[in-house]
Amino acid sequence: MCRQILCVAILFSVAWAQERRAIVVLRGEDPRIFGNVTFHQKYNVVAITGTIVGLSEGKHGFHVHEFGNLSGGCASTGSHFNPYKKSHGAPTDAERHVGDLGNILANQEGIATISMADNVIQLMGPNNIIGRAVVVHSGVDDLGKGGNAESLKTGNAGSRVVCGVIGTLDQEASSVSSLYLAPFFVLVPSFLLSLHNAITV
Ligand SMILES: *[C@@H]1O[C@H](CO)[C@@H](O)[C@H](O)[C@H]1NC(C)=O
Ligand SMILES: *[C@@H]1O[C@H](CO)[C@@H](O)[C@H](O)[C@H]1NC(C)=O
Repeated sequence: MCRQILCVAILFSVAWAQERRAIVVLRGEDPRIFGNVTFHQKYNVVAITGTIVGLSEGKHGFHVHEFGNLSGGCASTGSHFNPYKKSHGAPTDAERHVGDLGNILANQEGIATISMADNVIQLMGPNNIIGRAVVVHSGVDDLGKGGNAESLKTGNAGSRVVCGVIGTLDQEASSVSSLYLAPFFVLVPSFLLSLHNAITV
């Protein structure tokens, strides 16, 4: 009986540790440009979905920037989130910033419908993007293939048209990642089980 409880506790803690959701509400200096994007992590894959309206038709660089500081508008969000000091690249490249999510595509009405997935950005651990910013640029991200120094930093994606701070959508989220707490949920039931065994023997 106790062994079943242990198994359930382990499975529950693993599932709980590996699912997270976050949202960013995007606002620009131009009030006609706005939108929202949600992030849903299951295991190591983060599904990214959302809608942004008011953009010019075509591709726009779409990145996670390092700071959630909007006090000076999108300009205060710093550079691309790049904890490993890599060069700028495409989301599919090994050499990329954690925040490099490539481009989004706006249609003739200026609406970008976002539906992508990424396993480098995370909602927990060292690649956690919660508290950082999403920035959409005026131009196309050349994904590091532009043949100049700026391409390897910013992708020459141009000015910042809309941005927002990524916040949690989870009730139980705390400043301590549940990934780090997970071992305790395994160790405590194991300890109780061994205690139970020691007493009943
Ligand atoms: C943002 O999300 C809200 C609530 O889901 C929705 O009503 C609104 O239309 C969204 N805004 C855009 C631009 O998609
Ligand atoms: C936040 O951004 C403003 C405006 O760019 C800047 O002056 C300020 O130093 C930033 N805050 C911090 C704590 O870095």
